[in-house]
Amino acid sequence: MRAAVIERTGLPVRIEDLVLDEPREGEVCVRITASGVCHSDLHVRDGDWVRPGPIILGHEGAGIVEAVGPGVTGLQAGEHVALTWYYPCLRCRACQLGRQWLCSGSASVHHTAADGTSRAHRQDGSDVRAYLSIGTMAERTVVPAAAAVPIPVSVAPEVGALIGCCVSTGVGAVLKTAEVPAGAAVAVFGLGGVGLSVVMGAVLAGAGRIVAVDRVADKLERALDLGATHVVRATEPEATVAAVRTAAGGDGPDYAFEAIGLPITIDQTIAVLPPGGTAVLVGLTPFGQRASFEVFPFVDGSRRILGSNYGFAVAAVDFPRYAELHLQGRLPIDRLVDARIGLEDVEDAFGRMRRGEGLRRVITF
Ligand code: APR
Ligand code: ZN
Repeated sequence: MRAAVIERTGLPVRIEDLVLDEPREGEVCVRITASGVCHSDLHVRDGDWVRPGPIILGHEGAGIVEAVGPGVTGLQAGEHVALTWYYPCLRCRACQLGRQWLCSGSASVHHTAADGTSRAHRQDGSDVRAYLSIGTMAERTVVPAAAAVPIPVSVAPEVGALIGCCVSTGVGAVLKTAEVPAGAAVAVFGLGGVGLSVVMGAVLAGAGRIVAVDRVADKLERALDLGATHVVRATEPEATVAAVRTAAGGDGPDYAFEAIGLPITIDQTIAVLPPGGTAVLVGLTPFGQRASFEVFPFVDGSRRILGSNYGFAVAAVDFPRYAELHLQGRLPIDRLVDARIGLEDVEDAFGRMRRGEGLRRVITF
């Protein structure tokens, strides 16, 4: 099977022809139909996050179950699935509390199967890991059954793929982490796949004003299209903060989301808050990065900062929910996609992402 592999973090993607094992106990083989290109893949590619190599990139994918291993119940060949990049062990304390995004027993963090071994190999037999245990930038993948969540056949492959990362991350940050109430004023910094999903989530929540911020004009257009009520073109930090506060009305947005992962915009996300306001940090930074804020007004004004990983996703419940909302026309996920590309175009897509160009690029197979 063809797959987009990096030898190690910091090196460019190469398309390799790999060998894939049959699914073992508790695993399924999925033929990938679509894989989004997410900024987290770029973090690994560029070495912001060091990961063991060689590794197949991609963690935002959908496909069709091709084979099920021994002991798998509830999944059958032919079923359409979206893949979660943080499959739950279902046994640890977090899983039992229903907080699967905090699972401590998932092998996803090791980029292997549950038993610590790899199902993909080079022609010489050596192992190739799969990013977050799913490695979706490949024609096929063998994953733990809990990573493959059935979604309706009528959901387009690229929509299913995006539900697997940016949609769950952004929509979930609004609905699950922040629990934004109807009528609240919301601001969003960064309008990639994640930030635009925050905009869609804010619309679903019935937010009052929705202020979308980016330094690229095209992104502002798309945010308006998805239901943002105001847009701010990011310039100097102080000017941007002032413009966001004015656009949000009152003293600033009740909820401000950061969907980039830069200290400079994290600072702004906290700075725009009125008393009682909540900052929700969604964007992931390179390791070791710090952010800062002035403490007195923060405490005096009873402000809050929340971290939101994967939009608090419980994939088995939330993926079908988001798919259903999409089919009802209430989550226009298809409008995040601006191009379908081939596996060989991944490096080009990374280049565009570094420059902030275009919307979500999705590899289709
Ligand atoms: N001010 C405003 N907008 C900015 C700035 C800035 N200083 N710098 C970058 N942006 C915008 C870009 O123009 C782009 O539209 O932020 C957006 C980031 O989008 P993507 O690169 O497409 O990233 P995305 O895949 O949405 O992920 C965002 O979430 O899951 C994490 O690792 C992921 O940290 C990343 C973040
Ligand atoms: Zn992602």
